[in-house]
Amino acid sequence: MSAILPPAERIWWNQPIDRIEITWVVVALSWCLFMFAMMPLWHIYGRQNLTSESYRVSPEAYAAKAQEMVSKYTVRTETARNYPVVHPPAGSDVYLVARLWEWWPLLELEKDKTYRLHLSSMDWQHGFSLQPLNVNFQVIPGYDMVVTLTPDQAGEFTVLCNEYCGIGHHTMLGKIYVVDKKG
Ligand code: CUA
Repeated sequence: MSAILPPAERIWWNQPIDRIEITWVVVALSWCLFMFAMMPLWHIYGRQNLTSESYRVSPEAYAAKAQEMVSKYTVRTETARNYPVVHPPAGSDVYLVARLWEWWPLLELEKDKTYRLHLSSMDWQHGFSLQPLNVNFQVIPGYDMVVTLTPDQAGEFTVLCNEYCGIGHHTMLGKIYVVDKKG
């Protein structure tokens, strides 16, 4: 049969299906259904899929909220560039700004307390990647991505940018400290 000539047997599709073909159809379909079911299941039971919400926000309005939090709750500054380290009240809304080429400010959260972490960009797309936990979110200007999280491990976590955003992409590093108040 060719694509130009009509098929020799007119009703070419109405033939019994070969065993090997039906076997592969069943294998592929089962795998599709399994993967389809895993999407919601893994969201609920997997350990790295945080639930998020997103809202429209202008970069100016977002920056104002972040600035307000930084002005109120900065506890110290770090590095030669005096990055504020912010320790917001447990359970509050926390704002992390992504921009060329930094995550601002540095955050200090308390272990076992729940926060609403807001992520937004001031310019173009960045990627929030929390290491070594491998938590990933897109950070897009005009959108406030809200992630509800409860740090269950004290320590120092690095925020990387995992969307290529220009010449300073590789220098775009942030920090989240998780402190254990009881310890
Ligand atoms: Cu921001 Cu890459």
